[in-house]
Amino acid sequence: MTVLFPGSFDPVTMGHVSVIRRASAFADRLLVAVLDNPDKTPLFSAEERVQLLQEALCHTNAEIEAFSGLLADYARQKGANAILRGLRTPGDFEREYRYAAYNGRLSGIETIFLPAAPEFVHVSSSIIKEAARLDPTRLAAFAELLPPASLAALQKTFS
Ligand code: PNS
Repeated sequence: MTVLFPGSFDPVTMGHVSVIRRASAFADRLLVAVLDNPDKTPLFSAEERVQLLQEALCHTNAEIEAFSGLLADYARQKGANAILRGLRTPGDFEREYRYAAYNGRLSGIETIFLPAAPEFVHVSSSIIKEAARLDPTRLAAFAELLPPASLAALQKTFS
């Protein structure tokens, strides 16, 4: 089974890493796809986000690539049997359930959900970036929530 895990990964967190590690137990091939969307203004470029994922996932056999355009088309092109999304909160489920329906309609590919590990349920790249912008000296408080390379990249960017 080829499983595709798409996301913004701006930057990758331990929540993402946990989902990827757990999915590698049942996926024959695990593709991690970084959204490169010119309309969004991520903190890190697609190349930087791919690089941070490569450092965080160096002990897994996940394949990492950037993609643009419709996820459904990219998933078809890569021969994915399933799209994987992690769920932290009921709010995530409401959003993801609808995306799954649209992606299924566009591609015929099922979406599967993995619940976030309890210790990472609150982890959010957006909230970490917000705190980092306001006070970069507090980033060390998030060390357990981020792979070392993501923490270092945030410290470099905001200090
Ligand atoms: O990590 P995120 O920001 O929650 O990931 C969102 C992502 C990349 C999965 C979503 O924005 C996406 O699939 N974008 C690609 C464009 C697309 O296909 N949109 C859905 C149309 S039905």
